[in-house]
Amino acid sequence: MSRKSIIAANWKMNMTPTEAAAFLDPFLTTFSESVNVDIVIAPSFVALAKASEMITPNPAVSLSAQNMSHEASGAFTGETSAAMLLDVGCEYVILGHSERRSIYGEDDAVINKKVHATLSAGMKPILCIGESLAEREGGKLESVLSGQLEGSLADVGADQMADIVIAYEPVWAIGTGVTASPEQAQDTQKFVRSVLEDLYGSDVAGATRIQYGGSVKPGNAEELLGQPDIDGFLVGGASLDPQSFAEIVSAGIGG
Ligand code: PGA
Repeated sequence: MSRKSIIAANWKMNMTPTEAAAFLDPFLTTFSESVNVDIVIAPSFVALAKASEMITPNPAVSLSAQNMSHEASGAFTGETSAAMLLDVGCEYVILGHSERRSIYGEDDAVINKKVHATLSAGMKPILCIGESLAEREGGKLESVLSGQLEGSLADVGADQMADIVIAYEPVWAIGTGVTASPEQAQDTQKFVRSVLEDLYGSDVAGATRIQYGGSVKPGNAEELLGQPDIDGFLVGGASLDPQSFAEIVSAGIGG
């Protein structure tokens, strides 16, 4: 089953609107025509409008938010709704990032509500899962990942899975410079796909795109992408520099 790779830049709390425009200017010139990889940029909320203006005419690149409220509207100070993200041109929403889980206390139940709200609005969740080092070393890798998948995907139907991207991000590899080895990432992503198979059957599992995230850099992108169950990346630190993110995307196009 061939799956189109998806390589996404997760800028986290970096890049003002002005800095986002300075990044996108050369980057969008480099990737100005559709390629065999879906390229996604996830700026902060305040940079979405500026980024959308620049990205919308470009057929190769899509816009993503980094988070979203599951509530539709109302008295939720500081929150952002699906309708707002759709209106500003988002196609994707990153949900359940480990920083949201660990710093802001998001659990699978709330992430599941966000997944449903994103899908109902016609956008595509990039659903993040991943284990801590203690969980991996304590033999809990599989139970943690399957629990996150089952909880976050509760009541999501097989027909909705075509719009969901899974991002496997071992917490110990995020922002640490320690990347999972290609074998570790492959073994784990294969396991993630087997959980999807249990939940949705082999056709859906075979068609679902599973990204790897955690210290992806130009120097390790190609080898990771060579693994059969790695269908792209969610890139943090190395996505802040247009040249290095362009090199990671190019590894995907070439591979
Ligand atoms: P990193 O972050 O590439 O800086 O490790 C990845 C992520 O958190 O999505």
